[in-house]
Amino acid sequence: MMPTFFSVKRFQFFEQIKVVKNFYNLRVFALDTLFFFTYLLQNPFQIAKKKEEKNIYGETPLTLYDQIAQFSSLDSDKTFLELGSGRGRGALFLAERYGCKVVGVDWVSIFVKRARYIRNIMRIESAHFVEADFLDVDLSKADVVYIYGTCFSDSMIQSLLKRLKSLRQGGIVVTVSYSLIEYDSSSFLLKKQKRVTFPWGKSDLFYNVKN
Ligand SMILES: C[S@@+](CC[C@H](N)C(=O)[O-])C[C@H]1O[C@@H](n2cnc3c(N)ncnc32)[C@H](O)[C@@H]1O
Repeated sequence: MMPTFFSVKRFQFFEQIKVVKNFYNLRVFALDTLFFFTYLLQNPFQIAKKKEEKNIYGETPLTLYDQIAQFSSLDSDKTFLELGSGRGRGALFLAERYGCKVVGVDWVSIFVKRARYIRNIMRIESAHFVEADFLDVDLSKADVVYIYGTCFSDSMIQSLLKRLKSLRQGGIVVTVSYSLIEYDSSSFLLKKQKRVTFPWGKSDLFYNVKN
């Protein structure tokens, strides 16, 4: 069923209640408030569209970032690399809550500049944002890679896979709506598949582990 404006808003409302109840302290509240005001006049959907007309922007709910962190046992010794980090809200949330190192990569300049600005105000030293095509970045130091791009073409996923082969053994790649073993069953194992809800509807999270 196609999501409606009302169903998306309803989802976002209940998601925000969970976020406030489970994650808010003074700093997470400040972080969220900074994002709210930074994007008050121009929303991320409009900004992403300027980079690429067919760019379908969407964000992962913070409750799902938290599930990913728990499954991957993120802590201050681990590096979370987000390929296509958008506004960086999720990446900064994880760095703040789990103290892990995060690297967010996005090719939309405004997202990266504003994420750095918020990071600097909040002094979240373990978070870094890189403006680049994620096919050009070094993935070898990541412990957990997150990719939320449900509309990537098969050829894009094949190119990503080539890069992901440089991950260390045991490195986790979290994907939405497709598993990596569908493309390469010799380099990855599927550790877990979980049905989850995004604002636009249900999908699966795949935890792929590098062989
Ligand atoms: C669906 S959004 C996901 C944002 C964020 N990861 C989240 O889950 O909330 C995908 C993001 O990937 C970025 N993106 C798409 N292709 C990219 C590429 N080749 N290099 C860098 N960023 C890319 C887009 O600009 C967009 O911000």
